[in-house]
Amino acid sequence: MPAKNLLTIKANQQIADKIYKLELSGNYDLAEFAPGKFLHIKCSDSIEPMLRRPMSICDIDDAGKLMTVLYRADGKGTKLLSDKHAGDILDVLAPLGIEFPQDAVKPGQTALLIGGGIGVPPLYYLGRKLKQRGVKIKSILGFNSAKDVFYEDDFKSLGEVKISTMDGTYGHHGLVTDLIDQDWDTLYTCGPTAMLKAIQNIISKDKAAYMSLEERMACGIGACLACVCKSTDPNNTSYNRVCTEGPVFPLHAVNL
Ligand SMILES: Cc1cc2nc3c(=O)[nH]c(=O)nc-3n(C[C@H](O)[C@H](O)[C@H](O)COP(=O)(O)OP(=O)(O)OC[C@H]3O[C@@H](n4cnc5c(N)ncnc54)[C@H](O)[C@@H]3O)c2cc1C
Ligand code: FES
Repeated sequence: MPAKNLLTIKANQQIADKIYKLELSGNYDLAEFAPGKFLHIKCSDSIEPMLRRPMSICDIDDAGKLMTVLYRADGKGTKLLSDKHAGDILDVLAPLGIEFPQDAVKPGQTALLIGGGIGVPPLYYLGRKLKQRGVKIKSILGFNSAKDVFYEDDFKSLGEVKISTMDGTYGHHGLVTDLIDQDWDTLYTCGPTAMLKAIQNIISKDKAAYMSLEERMACGIGACLACVCKSTDPNNTSYNRVCTEGPVFPLHAVNL
């Protein structure tokens, strides 16, 4: 059951164009706060905006004391979040959702992480935990432009990193899908729907592959159905709630 937590902000700093790094102190049960799970954050102290904003866990230090969240301050709620300072208290529902299946890749095997834009953050925590288990990490990170690139060095500390930008101002000029090779065992991805669809189209259904969806959410706890997505299984006629049955799904399990 997710708990309502009041967390203390340790830092909230801009690290790229509209991208902020939020650090939250607390006592995190590392088994519960696993990579892929998310927080539902109340961005202001007033009733507006009423809806919380879902944000992935980008990292938690190995002592379980400091959590990092990266977010794009581009809408009403996230702009209010960017006004918060060290020492402020943040109202957070967490942990929510299901985690990435880490045992889908074995020590000695290779995990390919593919992140697009603000879908990059949860893959960092996943990659760090997989590397600790002896998994080899390769990452492909896609952004619109050089000014949007973040966490390149952090991913480089895990293994090989390839960057693509849509306008060609940094790294490969084009899409993350241009950079995918066959030299990996398990794929994990998170990013915009168009990117996830393109990955679904080129990755065989026989391969171990998982995606995390960043749908719009309201309650975040399975009650309102604002976040539903359709299963590709013809025998499953019900909708999946991304907040409770996800946000992580097998790559080919959801009709995007
Ligand atoms: C599991 C998950 C993890 C995510 N992780 C991250 C992350 O790590 N970093 C990041 O930057 N972003 C992340 N996102 C995306 C992020 O939640 C949205 O970008 C953010 O909510 C936008 O808020 P805003 O205040 O900037 O925009 P606004 O446009 O002000 O608000 C958008 C939000 O309002 C709500 N909303 C508005 N209209 C409707 C409607 N018609 N129906 C239902 N809801 C509505 C939704 O909660 C929506 O998310 C994640 C999303 C999900 C689902
Ligand atoms: S956000 Fe309410 S059911 Fe998922």
